[in-house]
Amino acid sequence: MYSEKVMDHFRNPRNMGEIPDADGVGTVGNPVCGDVMTVYIKIKDNKIDDIKFKTFGCGAAIATSSMITELAKGKTLDDALKITRANVAEGLGGLPPIKMHCSNLAADALHAAIKDYKEKKEGN
Ligand code: FES
Repeated sequence: MYSEKVMDHFRNPRNMGEIPDADGVGTVGNPVCGDVMTVYIKIKDNKIDDIKFKTFGCGAAIATSSMITELAKGKTLDDALKITRANVAEGLGGLPPIKMHCSNLAADALHAAIKDYKEKKEGN
């Protein structure tokens, strides 16, 4: 049912954890299932210097969280904002149709973290 890549990211999630002094934090809940994901980012020179996630969710949600950290790390904020739900699913070699909604969380949480960073920056 799951691709090898999904299983790999589920078993060995990349960048799992928290960044205590994060520049931006984004938390989103999935209305379909109630799972919750938080993404933490550190920004340097307008790029995502570090990124971590904490996810309370299904296996696919863990795998998509892990994948989004790999996709976003090192990218400029503008490029990171262009990462779509479909990119996450593609990066994992696809997701079963019933699990496609799980890829929404990752892209949405990343975008929320960037928005949080921008709002904080403008507020300073
Ligand atoms: Fe909730 Fe996958 S079942 S994110």
